[in-house]
Amino acid sequence: MEAQPRPTAPADSPSLGSLPVEPLLTSEFDADPGAVYERLRRRYGPVAPVGLMGVPVWLVLGYTEVTEVLRNESQWRRDIRYWRARAEGRLPGDWPLLAGYEVRQTMFMDDEEHRAARRTHHSALSPFQDARTPQGWELRAAIARYTDELVGLLAAESGSSGFADLGAQYTRPLLLMVTTQLFGYPVELGDELVMDLWRMLDGGPDAGPATGRALAAFTRLAAHRRALPGDDLTSYMLLADPELSDEQLGRELFMNAVYLNDITGNMVLNTLLEVLRGNATVRRSLSAGQLGETVNRAALANPPVANMCFRFAARDVRLGEFWVRAGDVVSPSAAAAHRDLLAIGRSHLVDSAVSTRAHLGWGAGQHQCPSAARELGNLIVTSAVGRVFEHFTKVELTLPHDQLPWRSGPVVRGLRLLPVRYELAPGASAMARPTDPAQVAGGAEGQTKGLLAALRRLMFGGR
Ligand code: HEM
Repeated sequence: MEAQPRPTAPADSPSLGSLPVEPLLTSEFDADPGAVYERLRRRYGPVAPVGLMGVPVWLVLGYTEVTEVLRNESQWRRDIRYWRARAEGRLPGDWPLLAGYEVRQTMFMDDEEHRAARRTHHSALSPFQDARTPQGWELRAAIARYTDELVGLLAAESGSSGFADLGAQYTRPLLLMVTTQLFGYPVELGDELVMDLWRMLDGGPDAGPATGRALAAFTRLAAHRRALPGDDLTSYMLLADPELSDEQLGRELFMNAVYLNDITGNMVLNTLLEVLRGNATVRRSLSAGQLGETVNRAALANPPVANMCFRFAARDVRLGEFWVRAGDVVSPSAAAAHRDLLAIGRSHLVDSAVSTRAHLGWGAGQHQCPSAARELGNLIVTSAVGRVFEHFTKVELTLPHDQLPWRSGPVVRGLRLLPVRYELAPGASAMARPTDPAQVAGGAEGQTKGLLAALRRLMFGGR
């Protein structure tokens, strides 16, 4: 069969560089991203040119167009070397987002290299998937223990009723404790690593050096576990692919740490928020004991990966009202695409499972969250959310939900704080007993204290 000629963009169609772009990350976007997506859509249709810290990017807003970009791997590439502006040296050298995109790991690979990297993640995570394996059982027991300890600590510090920030005092330390356990951190990788991870996650001018230090720490962890294998994800990654260098394994761990800490943490907080602010369908699924469905509904309302990582056009292609040129960068927006689903839901599919399953909270296509990682994410979110409603007899927001402070970055939308007034069930303070080090690989007790101390400094005194 004769190959069809590839279409090329008509010479008179506007290019990304020629269009005026409005900056995406404004205070309006911080407060109400939905209003910004709506305005962009009215003005440009399902694909809009926007500025990300001074660099023009196509933001994909329509559900149909977003799923096309996520699913069509041969047209939409992940390897950053496809990015024409980068190849031509047109990106500012100090562009804050470049540090993360230059970390070459699974997310930024294509084709067979990508598939092999995913197999490694899958195989390394699978021992933790099943509650019947010792690793799966221990992880579940550890999550339950950590949530109990954190609630117990709250009771010991602030009493059985009072005020708390479920971000700083519950979700974030919980995720760091899980990371410590799952990755098999030795005790010496402590407070400084935590500080750097947070600096890197918050972005800004020091994102570059913080990324470098965090990568170095994960590379050291890789070397440590190569020498001293344990029952942890790092060791299982090496077992799945003994060819991995310490540097490459460090990069993979770094990316997993971002998902585990920032994205999973945001999913916990977003789910708690949807319940607390009275989202009726979320509450209904929670009270019916359908925690998985609760999480789905919260992901639909507010996906933690709001705008997914960049894709690059392999060839000129028409998308929405524009011609996207080969080498152009696009960011598929799950948050904007979900507005299409919610609009359908409002019209005739209210409460139907169709709209919740179609959410893009886990991504879609070849780069979607690997099933083993998804299960781990779901396990952590449902355990963390479930334990709150088990331990607290009363928990309510202390701020109107539209006044809560959000971190709205180019990728993530997550709560900075989740301030609540609470009442604990009787006996909660008894849960603050120290962890039995024999039960936790690597003696996580000292680590936990170190992490908590680091977080407190960071949240309350470090900035
Ligand atoms: C509730 C928690 C989580 C959510 C909402 C989530 C969401 C996502 C999304 C949306 C993507 C696709 C991003 C894109 O295409 O640009 C993704 C990819 C990925 N996630 Fe998750 N994730 C979660 C938890 C985790 C955990 C716990 C891990 C591992 C420990 C993990 C590991 C990964 C990996 C390795 C990829 C890259 C896959 C690839 O590029 O082929 N995720 N995740």
